[in-house]
Amino acid sequence: MTVFTPAIASADIGVYGLGVMGANLARNLARNGYRTAVYNRTLARTEKLMALHGTGDEGTFVPADDLADFVASLAKPRVAIIMVQAGSATDAAMEQLAALMEEGDILVDCGNSLFTDTIRREKWARERGLHFVGAGVSGGEEGALWGPSIMPGGTEESYRRLGPMFEKISAHHDGQPCCTHVGADGAGHFVKMVHNGIEYADMQVIAEAYDLLRNGLGATPAEIADIFTTWNAGELNSYLIEITAEVLRQVDAETGIPLVDLIVDRASQKGTGKWTVQTALDLAVPVTGIGEATFARGASDSMVQREAARTLAGGDVALRVADTERDAFVEDVRQALFASKIVAYSQGFDLITAGAVEYGWRIDKGALAAIWRQGCIIRAAFLDDITRAYADDAELALLLAAEPFASRIRDCVPALRSVVAKAALAGVPIPVFASSLSYFDTIRATRLPAALIQGQRDYFGSHTYGRIDKAGTFHTLWAVATRPEEQWD
Ligand code: 6PG
Repeated sequence: MTVFTPAIASADIGVYGLGVMGANLARNLARNGYRTAVYNRTLARTEKLMALHGTGDEGTFVPADDLADFVASLAKPRVAIIMVQAGSATDAAMEQLAALMEEGDILVDCGNSLFTDTIRREKWARERGLHFVGAGVSGGEEGALWGPSIMPGGTEESYRRLGPMFEKISAHHDGQPCCTHVGADGAGHFVKMVHNGIEYADMQVIAEAYDLLRNGLGATPAEIADIFTTWNAGELNSYLIEITAEVLRQVDAETGIPLVDLIVDRASQKGTGKWTVQTALDLAVPVTGIGEATFARGASDSMVQREAARTLAGGDVALRVADTERDAFVEDVRQALFASKIVAYSQGFDLITAGAVEYGWRIDKGALAAIWRQGCIIRAAFLDDITRAYADDAELALLLAAEPFASRIRDCVPALRSVVAKAALAGVPIPVFASSLSYFDTIRATRLPAALIQGQRDYFGSHTYGRIDKAGTFHTLWAVATRPEEQWD
């Protein structure tokens, strides 16, 4: 067993937890010139990191086999990043570290933690004189190593110490770091949660577009990959479109069959999409695209119900596009995808606005969109326009109603209608396309049938209603047609 002898108070920053994400983040820090202390509960991981990358070529690591040594190796005020599994493992790591730290030291959680846990932990740390920073980190394993998008919350004081290091190791866009101080306590993990919700919607609409093209054109995955590659050169340019083309091109070496056709069609989830939807319900924000995308994963995984429903199949979907209409159909699907994407982002930013109000955060949505332009999973050319829209008007009421989105969605909605109608007639499931269209029609309607709902509620429960022609709250004795309404206040 290796015994490390760490230098006292010499490391700029430390990483506790050396799974792939932790190890990659540590390597990124070291490569960028920060002396990086590393510790893992199981020593083998620390040894492996040192054996593979501890030669000095990648920068300087300060390994420790003991937690007290790890803390002692950090320069003050100490900064320790916790990269363990979200949940109780994070609490346990915090407690161990806090017991060894001093006032002003900074604990950083870079995992996908629930923002309400982060709010609780920040309070816990503050009561002990420590700072706690919940930082959203996006970009997967490669991002952690070469430059993620980083969304730190916590105090401004902690950001002054931590921010420059995070900005240096983050991805950059036009020379600007993809890292900004999002807001106090749980703000960073809140926006990371919404980022992941948008990620779910983005992935689902891409999957729906693929399904439509496959059914409508009878095209092979490789042919559809070519379509996605073409799309990636235009306004849909994004990481997710790019990797979709690569996934579709992959052929199984053993069978020669496109790999996508061999993968079990059950989508998993770790919970960030679910948290986004739960939070949206709590804050009464209709994130319908994210909701449908999350439910679509659940539906794909409902094996008992899917088996029971096989008797309803009645043959497979019948969407066949005539040769003469192929190009028009592909363009309609592209536009439907873009319109749904606008809806998903608009809804996600609505949730961020509501979260900021509820939790008292001052979130600069333009700065947030700017740090999502590189490094993260939802990076897309489109985020340049979102950045500009919020730079022009930080208090935008509705992203999709601002230019250039208003014009683009107006242009693309006829295609979305056509695609939704064709899919509905043929029986292709398109939950996010359909809900995006319904959301668009709802949000722009001058009058909604919600008036009738209010009437129904008042009928059976005296829940009252407002009137368009006079102020006040009203109740009608509905069953007695001759009795007038009463004004309740
Ligand atoms: C990111 C990703 C990352 C992770 C997702 C996967 O931004 O780097 O979002 O956080 O890949 O959490 O989530 P699911 O397992 O729920 O799809």
